[in-house]
Amino acid sequence: MAKIGVLTLSDRASAGVYADESGVAIQNILKEWVISDLEFIYRVIPDDYELIVNSLEQMCEQGCDIIFTTGGTGPAPRDVTPEATEAVCEKMLPGFGELMRSVSLKYVPTAILSRQSAGIKNKTLIVNLPGQPKAIKECLEPIFPAIPYCLDLIGAAYIECDENIMKVFRPKKK
Ligand code: MTE
Repeated sequence: MAKIGVLTLSDRASAGVYADESGVAIQNILKEWVISDLEFIYRVIPDDYELIVNSLEQMCEQGCDIIFTTGGTGPAPRDVTPEATEAVCEKMLPGFGELMRSVSLKYVPTAILSRQSAGIKNKTLIVNLPGQPKAIKECLEPIFPAIPYCLDLIGAAYIECDENIMKVFRPKKK
């Protein structure tokens, strides 16, 4: 059983001004791609640095194999998701942000405004996704093929996907 944390950072969604679509989209996409059993831990909180750090730490302690954040990666004063992620992680994986930004540039010129990254805390992979609901699939699609192998390397859960819709890559053992 893999445990997936979904953490939505949005002042307005957490205040009930609108419904959180991005956190819901992440869960729906994963349910479609992943054939292994999944358990989700889902929270919607405001863009507050301390709250984000505490929530990420709690989700790690609860045994999440991956935590996907959505929102708070832009240049606005309250966008602090990448800073909170870096504070929690022991190791950063800048390739995730690089790939998401370069793919996203095909869709919107404002993709360069996203400071999203990824990193590892103990046996948890934390990945920042942008806040736009439509950006979720655009960003998850290119990075997901590398995620199951990353989980293997850090000693997290073994994840299998439906090969017809999401082809993951695991290098052959020597
Ligand atoms: N990436 C994709 N694929 N599609 C998008 O619409 N929006 C961009 C960018 N990345 C976008 C995207 C915009 S407008 C911003 S400000 C940044 O993500 C950060 O968004 P966030 O603060 O909601 O995380």
